[in-house]
Amino acid sequence: MVIISDASEEDLEQIYEIEVESFDKPYPISLLKAYLYLSNIYIVAKEDSKILGYAIGIIQFKKRGHVVSIATRKESRKKGIGTLLLSTLEKTFINNNCTYSYLEVMITNREAIRFYRDMNYLVIYTKKNYYGRGRHAYIMMKSLINKSLE
Ligand SMILES: CC(C)(COP(=O)(O)OP(=O)(O)OC[C@H]1O[C@@H](n2cnc3c(N)ncnc32)[C@H](O)[C@@H]1OP(=O)(O)O)[C@@H](O)C(=O)NCCC(=O)NCCS
Repeated sequence: MVIISDASEEDLEQIYEIEVESFDKPYPISLLKAYLYLSNIYIVAKEDSKILGYAIGIIQFKKRGHVVSIATRKESRKKGIGTLLLSTLEKTFINNNCTYSYLEVMITNREAIRFYRDMNYLVIYTKKNYYGRGRHAYIMMKSLINKSLE
């Protein structure tokens, strides 16, 4: 059974493994560790002691939730784990009075864009060169107003 829990230092090695297999330019483990102290929500999806995915969120200006990072193990994708992680972030945002959630995604990352669209995020605008020269990002946003708190 997959369980969502708060991330801790012991989880970092596995989180970093997922990061490396998921991104061309992975966050260094030092940054993944720093977020344990800098973020408002940092969660892992675990099955027994194996981490299958992680997500980091920050609440900004007491009103908006920023999805800093989300990734699942390649072998565990398309099983609903990303959805579980993102909806858990959103619940925390809602419980902290955020009115919307937003994120950046590389415009070439079709799989993630489809995933976010399915989760009711909309492309709001494009941030040119966000990930480096020629590596543009879409800013995607979802309203959290009138969402149930269950
Ligand atoms: C984006 C990402 C986090 C999604 O994670 P995931 O665990 O595959 O997410 P889910 O399984 O909840 O949903 C993915 C898709 O599988 C489908 N799915 C969910 N459960 C399923 C199941 N049991 N059987 C078949 N399909 C299923 C979902 O409907 C969804 O479809 P979509 O592609 O049309 O949106 C994952 O692809 C990833 O880690 N990518 C690399 C890192 C990355 O790009 N992160 C985002 C950076 S902005």
